[in-house]
Amino acid sequence: MRVSGPIAALLASLALGGCAKLTLAWANLDPHGAPASPLALGESANPGPIATVETWESERAPELRAELEREVYGVMPDASSARVISHETLNEAAFNGKGRLEEYRIEARVTFNGVTVTAGEIEEGSSEHGFLMDVVLPTNASGPVPVILIESFCPRWDTLPDPAIARQEGAWSCEEGGFMTSVMHYAFGRYIATPPVETILDRGYAIATIFPSEIVPDSKKKGLEELKRLAAGYQDQKTRWGAIAAWGWAFSRMVDVLEDDARFDKNAMIVWGHSRYGKAALVAAAFDNRIDGVIAHQSGTGGASLNREKIGESLKEITSQYPHWFDENYAAYAGHEEEMTVDQHMLLALIAPRPVLLGNARRDVWSDPNGAFRAALGADPVYELYGSRGLDQARLVPYRPQSDIAFWIRPGTHGVVQEDWPAFLEFLDAHFKHERAAMN
Ligand code: GCU
Repeated sequence: MRVSGPIAALLASLALGGCAKLTLAWANLDPHGAPASPLALGESANPGPIATVETWESERAPELRAELEREVYGVMPDASSARVISHETLNEAAFNGKGRLEEYRIEARVTFNGVTVTAGEIEEGSSEHGFLMDVVLPTNASGPVPVILIESFCPRWDTLPDPAIARQEGAWSCEEGGFMTSVMHYAFGRYIATPPVETILDRGYAIATIFPSEIVPDSKKKGLEELKRLAAGYQDQKTRWGAIAAWGWAFSRMVDVLEDDARFDKNAMIVWGHSRYGKAALVAAAFDNRIDGVIAHQSGTGGASLNREKIGESLKEITSQYPHWFDENYAAYAGHEEEMTVDQHMLLALIAPRPVLLGNARRDVWSDPNGAFRAALGADPVYELYGSRGLDQARLVPYRPQSDIAFWIRPGTHGVVQEDWPAFLEFLDAHFKHERAAMN
């Protein structure tokens, strides 16, 4: 289990988007213009405008996925699978009796070009591969429950703090208390490491979490090495998958396991991620239809924000600071963003008609809320094609959680603060509660 890496490094990494780049600027509430519609742009197979869901799904959407792989995220595996190695109950009455805490040990396999490799590392340096997923279910649930799948900067025992989750000797935690934890909460919000678990359980949602660094470490050197190992059969190093794609892929492996368990609602698998994991959550949903909803909070560059006319974090900044996140073609567009044939609204369009929430903060200009809003405008025609409600607002406010592209912006900066989770839960209730009420 890879749990080394001091909290200071985490703070420094987050700080690039939070404190260090904090400016007095804020997002303009009336951003201009949508980018070209994904329906209007023609490519080889079907150059005409797309007029039906059928042609979108059979022709344009696969084309756009392939382009996003080639130009931004790197190529996804040819085949994947997940198998539960073991599954145990850790605490039947966790979180003040509100939840039942369980742990799955999962073996996930990835195949490129006929070469299959197993993901994750149970013990650092050991040859035994796999990773752990912790799940908490509401104890009072009466039917299959919707699940929020969380990937986070902090280890699993911070996302679901319960002493029954075993930690390795010397393992780090974001929630150890003391000065660093106070700094982290002050700078990035009360919920940066731990969501309001009891509130979420009370509202009827289960939480499933993995620590993505247990699959691909979020580090230039080790991350790149692991990505290379996992893509053993893939020859073209330029378009080999990056960590954002691999973390997105990991969400899908969680779905493999959860969908096999009748206690979870197959129609309510919602991926949640903040910032870099918001990027991964969007990629997961765009490439996997079994994901039913997305909360991508402050996903920024390489997430929901457009690459063209970019403000905030540039392609040059993101690809030089985090060379392991994307494929090499993306870095090559730095300074030539207008030459890109794909842009991030196409990633959002691939999620249509499933509900997506884009979370933002007015002074988090590094994540470019205006660019995310314009991407939402750009994806909207595809939502409309499905007859879905899509984006239902002409400005960044007011928040409409019932829309299929819901845009949330609050005052403040980069992080997960007190008012974020109530907004997330409103969105979830608007889209997943009625379904549940009808089923029960
Ligand atoms: C850095 C990075 C962003 C990323 C953020 C985060 O600020 O530049 O692209 O979204 O970290 O993950 O918090």
